Amino acid sequence: MTSFIGAGNVGTSLGVFFKENGMAIRGYFSRTFKSAETAALLTSSRAYTRLEDMVNESRFIWITTNDDAIENVANQIAELNIHEKKTFIHASGLKTSDVLISLKKQGHETCSAHPLLAFNTVEQAVKMLGKTTFFLEGEQDDLLGIKQIFEDKNLTFAEIKKEQKAAYHAGACMISNYLVTLVHASNQIFELAGISNHVLRPAINTLMASVLQNLEEKGPKEALTGPINRGDVQTVKKHLEILAKELPGLTEVYKVLGKETMHMIDDFRLKNILDE
Ligand SMILES: NC(=O)c1ccc[n+]([C@@H]2O[C@H](COP(=O)([O-])OP(=O)(O)OC[C@H]3O[C@@H](n4cnc5c(N)ncnc54)[C@H](OP(=O)(O)O)[C@@H]3O)[C@@H](O)[C@H]2O)c1
Repeated sequence: MTSFIGAGNVGTSLGVFFKENGMAIRGYFSRTFKSAETAALLTSSRAYTRLEDMVNESRFIWITTNDDAIENVANQIAELNIHEKKTFIHASGLKTSDVLISLKKQGHETCSAHPLLAFNTVEQAVKMLGKTTFFLEGEQDDLLGIKQIFEDKNLTFAEIKKEQKAAYHAGACMISNYLVTLVHASNQIFELAGISNHVLRPAINTLMASVLQNLEEKGPKEALTGPINRGDVQTVKKHLEILAKELPGLTEVYKVLGKETMHMIDDFRLKNILDE
């Protein structure tokens, strides 16, 4: 039986997804009963008012609270002195299984399992979870149970070492967060061109889809198009002129990304203008 502490985006989405894939969900405990109730309703499971009851009635317990609360929740459970062996899993990309040390000391299995996905809504996440890779970290014996579940459900997973998690999570945030920031920044630039939002949105979506397809098929170096790839000095000069005049705050962003692009393709023909 699987249950969740923390009925937010990740906890609810995982529960719905696991249930749809034939796993029995015992229930939810959350900071507020309302969140637990909503998630329990979606998973035909129980909303608990007592953490102790839920832990006692479960074998696998996911701690899907925000990162900062995980250790406190683990300590709270450790105070209950539960004798029967359980597996506790948290979903943080950065924190390691070390934050569950108080439970490990009591003989429970502990690990972290990070689904590499941007959870925005439950509906969207549930659609994508079948294609998501879960990055697992923990001692080999502690990972046996969760690996078995993932294998049974045909889910993709890979292992990661404790000391690799900071780099792993920085990479994940660079893609999933800063891609969004990049779109926000480019929208400000498009506004200068006076294109209305209803025209711009579908146009950008197709542009992004073409980039993602190129990336998927060829990888970053081969997917690159545009003036830096072609060595078009005058084009990049014009971009920098309009930015310096209208959106000076974005000039540095453009230059930094331009320089990283030069390094990526090992072509420094535009070095002078981007260094200016
Ligand atoms: N969002 C992502 O894209 C993503 C992707 C992969 C992994 N993760 C990881 O997944 C975990 C959850 O993230 P999230 O985005 O789902 O966060 P979230 O939507 O903010 O949900 C966190 C939930 O934890 C509950 N909570 C907080 N403190 C608690 C406590 N002391 N006891 C019980 N419940 C508590 C909150 O409950 P109430 O609603 O009841 O107040 C909230 O619903 C984090 O470790 C995060 O790093 C997130």
